[in-house]
Amino acid sequence: MQLPAVLGILGLAVSTAAKITFINPPQFTRKVQVTEHDVWVTGQTIDIRWSQPDEGKKLSVVLYQMNSTMAASFNGQFPGADPPFEYITHDQVGATFFRWIVGTTKDLRFSNQFAIAVWAEGTVVTDSATNIFNITSAATLPDDTSCPSTAESHLNALISLVPEKLPFERVHLLDGELRLGHCRGPLHGIPVILKDCIATGPELGMPTSAGSVALLEDKITKNAPPPLLTDGAVIVGKSKLSELCAFK
Ligand SMILES: *[C@@H]1O[C@H](CO)[C@@H](O)[C@H](O)[C@H]1NC(C)=O
Ligand SMILES: *[C@@H]1O[C@H](CO)[C@@H](O)[C@H](O)[C@H]1NC(C)=O
Repeated sequence: MQLPAVLGILGLAVSTAAKITFINPPQFTRKVQVTEHDVWVTGQTIDIRWSQPDEGKKLSVVLYQMNSTMAASFNGQFPGADPPFEYITHDQVGATFFRWIVGTTKDLRFSNQFAIAVWAEGTVVTDSATNIFNITSAATLPDDTSCPSTAESHLNALISLVPEKLPFERVHLLDGELRLGHCRGPLHGIPVILKDCIATGPELGMPTSAGSVALLEDKITKNAPPPLLTDGAVIVGKSKLSELCAFK
């Protein structure tokens, strides 16, 4: 996050605010072994709670991704904007609780270790930080997939589906953006099925056949609907159609 945003939450005054202490997840007291970290799954709901002695203050709860160097030397203090943080909630007066849907815009392949800190307006260093915890991606299908696949084989409505983890990952990314107040447009987070005459690039892992076996091997290199993608739609599959859109 950029410096002006940081100054925004930190304010300019240095104060000796009474200490805020986390209740859940636990307040950092000493480092716990990585194998003992709490592990949270994206999409799970966590009730973040803390005690707040100074009720009139504006509080922001923020999430930090910890790289391995930082995680190894973490002492429960965040001196500011390094590493860049994401808001979980921003400038709440008197809050002591936030129901968080676990998620992050950060790349979990870079690091799955995170900590939360609460910043009171006017502080420059916070030692109100939690223990480090892990976030793991829920980018798998729910256990019970019998319903969609039965319907699909019965109705034959869909020609292809995107690889199962893609829409989950995308939804978590888009959810994270919404939490940060960024909406890409009217289709933000909306699942979309494209007719199979609309070309989709290799990143979506689906052929574009226009309903004809003659085109099955065609290598499409680019998505035809970039505005849909950039506007935040979540493409989940492609639907059946008459051969070559009945264009004969
Ligand atoms: C948490 O993540 C770290 C780093 O990837 C890993 O070494 C550790 O085993 C994880 N802890 C748990 C409890 O899964
Ligand atoms: C780890 O994070 C710290 C704090 O943001 C940064 O100074 C350091 O360069 C990072 N190290 C790596 C290996 O990414």
